[in-house]
Amino acid sequence: MTTKTARSRNQLVVLRLGHRIQRDVRVTTHVCLTARALGADGIIISDVHDRRITDTINRVTKQFGGSFTIETGKPWRHSVTEWKKAGGRVVHLTAYGIPLPEIIERIRASHENKLVVVGAEKVPGEMFHLADWNVSVTNQPISEVSALGIFLDWMFNHRGLQEEFPNAALRIVPTEHGKRVVRP
Ligand SMILES: C[S@@+](CC[C@H](N)C(=O)[O-])C[C@H]1O[C@@H](n2cnc3c(N)ncnc32)[C@H](O)[C@@H]1O
Repeated sequence: MTTKTARSRNQLVVLRLGHRIQRDVRVTTHVCLTARALGADGIIISDVHDRRITDTINRVTKQFGGSFTIETGKPWRHSVTEWKKAGGRVVHLTAYGIPLPEIIERIRASHENKLVVVGAEKVPGEMFHLADWNVSVTNQPISEVSALGIFLDWMFNHRGLQEEFPNAALRIVPTEHGKRVVRP
């Protein structure tokens, strides 16, 4: 097992575009949970504030550990341009992009912080030009949750599957049958 804080690497933050408060609450929550569990450092939910999601994710982080950040309401274009101005690189997950297996080595080899963008409904055309890499996880339409999960798994060479989160109040102990949760 590797501990999240013991692993030295650049920052990776997810940017969720187009969240619609009523309609997308469940999917956006799952985007956040996937980002946190598979090694991202935080998430920005662009353009709207959603207190329910922020509270849910902060509660999960408090219980299961780590230091995942969640920010809401910042205009998406501002997040992307600020990120690039600070020297970071931008990965946009889209069915129209270059296949993940063809491009992942180049993304892994770059040492800058990464902003990984996932959409909800229609992503503005400008995003395709602002991105350093438009990356497809298959060239079929899939869910942003699965696209993000697969991307992070490849990005971190499966390390996210065995990572320990520091300062957890609860820890799930893998068992062959049933459920076991301990307070470390
Ligand atoms: C449900 S899709 C809707 C996309 C929308 N129809 C469009 O054309 O922009 C929501 C998000 O999932 C992600 N996504 C869907 N299929 C993908 C794929 N094959 N590879 C990478 N990302 C994908 C993209 O980030 C996309 O913005």
